[in-house]
Amino acid sequence: MIFFDNITKMYGQNMLALDNVTLRVKQGEFVSLVGRSGAGKSTLLKLLIAEERPTFGKIFFENDDVHSLRSNRLPFLRRRIGVVFQDLKLLSMKTVKENIGFVMEVAGKGKEEIDRDVPQILDLVGLSSKFDNFPHELSGGEKQRVAIARALAHRPDVIIADEPTGNLDPLNTWEIIGLLTKINELGTTILLATHDKEVINSLERRVVSLDNGKIIRDEEKGKYVL
Ligand SMILES: Nc1ncnc2c1ncn2[C@@H]1O[C@H](COP(=O)(O)OP(=O)(O)O)[C@@H](O)[C@H]1O
Ligand SMILES: [Mg+2]
Repeated sequence: MIFFDNITKMYGQNMLALDNVTLRVKQGEFVSLVGRSGAGKSTLLKLLIAEERPTFGKIFFENDDVHSLRSNRLPFLRRRIGVVFQDLKLLSMKTVKENIGFVMEVAGKGKEEIDRDVPQILDLVGLSSKFDNFPHELSGGEKQRVAIARALAHRPDVIIADEPTGNLDPLNTWEIIGLLTKINELGTTILLATHDKEVINSLERRVVSLDNGKIIRDEEKGKYVL
């Protein structure tokens, strides 16, 4: 489904962020990208959503070469990939419900569809009781669940989550990881970048380890080893 074909990414002349990375992800997989800070995890995810361009190599999403898509096709690709980042960028003047509705509206969804889908999505992430609350009224874990709900609003085929538990305490971390697992079990492919050892070791899913821009390990039911 996703194929990073011999990817090298340089920032400027000297910063080699990814060095000849080849990685295939099948539909329905839950893949964790692990590695120290600076290993290249975020760069790999940014390349997939065309936020950065590879210096060499190609990235395929199904049959599309991501970086030769015409610019008018890019929004369609991006809607198939839901993105959850650590700094969530929720709209502070909008309620939980409005935060989700807004992204659907921007994507051209009608009011009827929005009114139908938003409660379903908030129910899935366990936030039905926070519908009309504003972001500042939520805990860190709840905010992160809103961010996941927002990523789900386009019914994406893939969710990429870059250190989604970075700011959370252990309890909230487990809730978020449990939620990602549940979303994966419902059929969505997950790409999770994290350096949280506990999370990785308990997940028992595929682990791809990056070090200095290279894949040094790729294991089914992997452990965090660096
Ligand atoms: N926009 C940028 N310009 C220059 N260097 C960058 C940029 N983004 C990332 N880097 C560098 O590329 C390397 C990989 O970064 P990153 O992909 O963010 O790693 P990770 O997410 O694993 O911490 C790091 O050395 C980082 O400093
Ligand atoms: Mg990163």
